[in-house]
Amino acid sequence: MDLFSYQDMEPYRQRVAELTQLINRYNHEYYMNDTSLVSDYEFDQLLAELISLEKQYPELALPNSPTKRVGGEVNKSFRQVTHRFPMLSLGNTYSIEEIEEFEARTRRLIGDTPFSYTCELKYDGVAIGLTYRHGELVQAVTRGNGTVGDDITSNARTIGTIPLHLQGDYPDDFEARGEVVYPFEAFETYNQQREQEGLEPFANPRNAASGSLKLQDSAECAKRKLMFCMYFMMLPPDADVASPHLATHSGRLDWARQMGFKVQPYIRECANIQEIKQFIDYWDEARWQLPFGIDGIVIKVNQVALWDQLGLTAKSPRWAIAYKFKAQQVSSHLESIDYQVGRTGVITPVANLVPVSLGGTVVRRATLNNADFIRSMDIHDDDWLLVEKGGEIIPKIVGVDMSHRKPGALPVRYIDHCPECGTLLVRADGEAGHYCPNQDSCPPQQLGRLEHFVSRRAMNIESLGSERIKMLFDSGLVRNIADFYDLRRDQLIGLGSDGSATIQDKGADNILAAIDLSRSVPFERVVFALGIRYVGEVGAKKIARYFNNIDALMNASLDELLQVEDVGDVTADAVVAFFSDAQMRTVVERLRQAGLQMQMAENHVGSQLAGLTFVVSGVFDHYSRDEIKASIEQHGGKVSGSISGKTSFLLAGDKMGPEKLKKAEKLGVRIISEQDYDKMIMD
Ligand code: IVH
Repeated sequence: MDLFSYQDMEPYRQRVAELTQLINRYNHEYYMNDTSLVSDYEFDQLLAELISLEKQYPELALPNSPTKRVGGEVNKSFRQVTHRFPMLSLGNTYSIEEIEEFEARTRRLIGDTPFSYTCELKYDGVAIGLTYRHGELVQAVTRGNGTVGDDITSNARTIGTIPLHLQGDYPDDFEARGEVVYPFEAFETYNQQREQEGLEPFANPRNAASGSLKLQDSAECAKRKLMFCMYFMMLPPDADVASPHLATHSGRLDWARQMGFKVQPYIRECANIQEIKQFIDYWDEARWQLPFGIDGIVIKVNQVALWDQLGLTAKSPRWAIAYKFKAQQVSSHLESIDYQVGRTGVITPVANLVPVSLGGTVVRRATLNNADFIRSMDIHDDDWLLVEKGGEIIPKIVGVDMSHRKPGALPVRYIDHCPECGTLLVRADGEAGHYCPNQDSCPPQQLGRLEHFVSRRAMNIESLGSERIKMLFDSGLVRNIADFYDLRRDQLIGLGSDGSATIQDKGADNILAAIDLSRSVPFERVVFALGIRYVGEVGAKKIARYFNNIDALMNASLDELLQVEDVGDVTADAVVAFFSDAQMRTVVERLRQAGLQMQMAENHVGSQLAGLTFVVSGVFDHYSRDEIKASIEQHGGKVSGSISGKTSFLLAGDKMGPEKLKKAEKLGVRIISEQDYDKMIMD
């Protein structure tokens, strides 16, 4: 690779600036105003061009480049950062009387000065602080314990509603505080995807938002579609607050909106307690119509000059308070219990309730989780159950309404045979749930396994949706995962009786082509696709890498499996049980015959660094010295111990030797950081 002088780089620098400006504008319109100025295709083209330029010339990549929106930076651990200004919490209450007391006390303390309140939504998410200097986002930190939080900057950059550069006028140095929330729709889609992949769904959007911010792979965080709601502007004590924008909290939020922040429009200036109560009552009902979760209302004194006068208590300001909504609860008659059989045979009991209205939706069914749950709630036949809807979207059963208990009613008798295939259920030691062990011929398990096998993160056989799989299953053509690879064109054509769903020539070709393509899916994903109980995507990767090929994995003992990072007794048992089943072994054999990848690809991840020679010096954040050298070689590069005219890059970590630096500078060898390196190998 040639070394470029400043002049040579100029056209690229200009193109980077041009692309950055365009993409930022399109992003802003998309995230803030829900408007697409260009087609997805055009947008992707521009972004791809910028990514490629940044990869080629890492020194042109700006810290707040819009390419950061797609992520790619790896956080091995999150640096702990002390907040410049502590992140205080608010006094909070469920009682309207306490809000009345707050209002009366505030009025008393303020005396004759005219003032007002703002009432706004209390977002149910994760509080973060964003530092902006000269209009650029420089750091994002979680609240943590209020004094110290985690630096999550690279993940925050992937959130579309967090501006990376500000527009118009802005204070030169300030912190924007707000909440990262997971909008319901995106959260549900994400949880469905998790379930399809055999992963435990998140209990609520807040937990999912929090987990997402702590993801090591920021590209993964980018896919989560989180949203940032700004609610507070924190200025340093020496800031010039004379500007009329800054005198009131509502003025500051209006200004923040102009800078490009997403500030929700649901904020109201209130003159007195009646108006505050009206706002609270309104949102206690209307909250269910919002596309994201709130758990209360925040009331703040609007005039910033009064904040000092009111002061702070030990941990919260006296000029604000949060009113928290109570969870809504109803009771309803338990009509019957369905026992659902999942893909891995796990049984989930689900209560059928007399339909009842709760928090804006009609509840008909609610999960009873497992046998232990039913026993711990002491649920009897014919009971009335208490159903609650808190911050979560999914109502949950929280107890029995004893006022309706029928005399002589018996505790619910849990089933002991599979409702689908009649097999005696099994309950492993220490587990709360039962499962059906008939993995080979219990229909929902067979179907579930087929669906899992073709799913996007497994074999990614796109043209096969659940409907077609059911069709193939019912017709007897596909009973287990190996059968996909025996399908013939003539068997597929005409399949499906009802008109539009019938498979035609083109459909059959697409299916066969997609199946064919899956033969090159890497071994890690084949292991995941097999659908071994408790083996999720990450576990499958670790197991595949450890054993390297299917034979070693099939013959692995419990002890060997326990050597794999994060594999415990339960997973190890499940893997051994899976491969001891003679039918499963036959299926795996047929998959091998069909040409699926049954071993790890050669230890050669890519050739992005082909022809380049690196000298490595210093200490790195995310790699040990050996790891970074191995990584260079895996990507086709060479590692050398000393700098010469042939060295392409000096990869510099912390505490790099001064001699190396001097020599590199003398010979004009480009010096790159660990982050630059990560960009170069990014696919
Ligand atoms: S103002 C000094 N406004 O609720 C005042 N907080 O204890 C700073 N929250 O963890 C907070 N929505 O993250 C404020 N509209 C809102 C809010 C809000 C949610 C969170 C905040 C904090 C907790 C209050």
